[in-house]
Amino acid sequence: MKRIGILTGGGDAPGLNAVIRAAVKTAIYEYRCEVIGIRDGYDGFINEKGIIPLGIEDVRGILPRGGTILGAANRGNPYARKIIRDGKEITIDVSDEIIKGIKRLELDGLLVLGGDGTLRSAHELYKKGAPVIGVPKTIDNDIGGTEVTFGFDTAVSIATEAIDRLHTTAEAHHRVMVLELMGRDAGFIALHAGVAGGADVILIPEIPFKFESVVTEVRQRVERGYLFSILVVSEGAKPLGGSQSFSRGGDEIYTPRLGGIGHAVGEYVDRHGYETRVTVLGHLQRGGTPTSFDRWLATRYGAAAVRLAAEGKFDRMVALREGKVQDVSLEEAIAIPKRVDLNDDAVITARGMGIAFGDE
Ligand code: F6P
Repeated sequence: MKRIGILTGGGDAPGLNAVIRAAVKTAIYEYRCEVIGIRDGYDGFINEKGIIPLGIEDVRGILPRGGTILGAANRGNPYARKIIRDGKEITIDVSDEIIKGIKRLELDGLLVLGGDGTLRSAHELYKKGAPVIGVPKTIDNDIGGTEVTFGFDTAVSIATEAIDRLHTTAEAHHRVMVLELMGRDAGFIALHAGVAGGADVILIPEIPFKFESVVTEVRQRVERGYLFSILVVSEGAKPLGGSQSFSRGGDEIYTPRLGGIGHAVGEYVDRHGYETRVTVLGHLQRGGTPTSFDRWLATRYGAAAVRLAAEGKFDRMVALREGKVQDVSLEEAIAIPKRVDLNDDAVITARGMGIAFGDE
């Protein structure tokens, strides 16, 4: 193995730099191998100045830094790239150019750090000859084949702290506080942070809820003498028989943007006589320094991905299973997105402790 490339696709997540650092150090120290950084996701293969060498000096001090030193691009699908030609916006397939770029650079491996979209593209590029290895990145924790993605633990920690802070105002003012959290179609962030922060109601996409049940929970708490409530709402949660709330529609480049369900729940509860405030935590969940767990996981993932490249095990993704870093086929990882298992002990524990999911 003489030279490997590394790129970060999709939205950023805490821990990307930790993966890059571990990969660069392992490649150079263990395999005496050159590392090339591809900037702004797959776009780096096409854009001018998209390719940069990565040495030990380039990764010094980046372990605790959020974001990614390589830049990310969540419009970076190589099979549907928007360009302006003759004054008109058109969508083109640039996958062949990427394959040419990989060959031109003589890459013996390409580490692709990304979520479902980026990993799906990686698998397609493999079929065209690219020596790809996936690293599962997303705060949503919704990638199959692995118990956890890096970035998730940091998002949960930030969300838990937000719940703690909302608790104090909720109690002082006898209010209902609604916190809308990210997670797309998976309720992991809301479930984990909701349990860790002691929420009274948790609404997740996997359990359609009834508005009346949410108000009933708030009312019963007041009747029991608890004059405040904390409601944690996943952005992808939807009412029974209804649909998800979007703040922006999608197209062949952008996925639709979720948002608004927190306000819908807040307004409903407020209309029923309980003073309510809504907070949308948004990108605070993705920014800033990764937790020690995410740095630990990202470091292990980065090093393991380089070892896979050295072994020529392409079209695979590093994964955490039973506490060990292993590898799974990219096909398996992208086949079925991971969702909250309603029979898992986390949901059973929450229900057993009186946390409402709005479905009863
Ligand atoms: O997939 C990560 C994520 O943060 C989701 O939780 C959220 O729905 C989405 O990305 C937001 O994307 P953007 O940064 O493009 O608004």
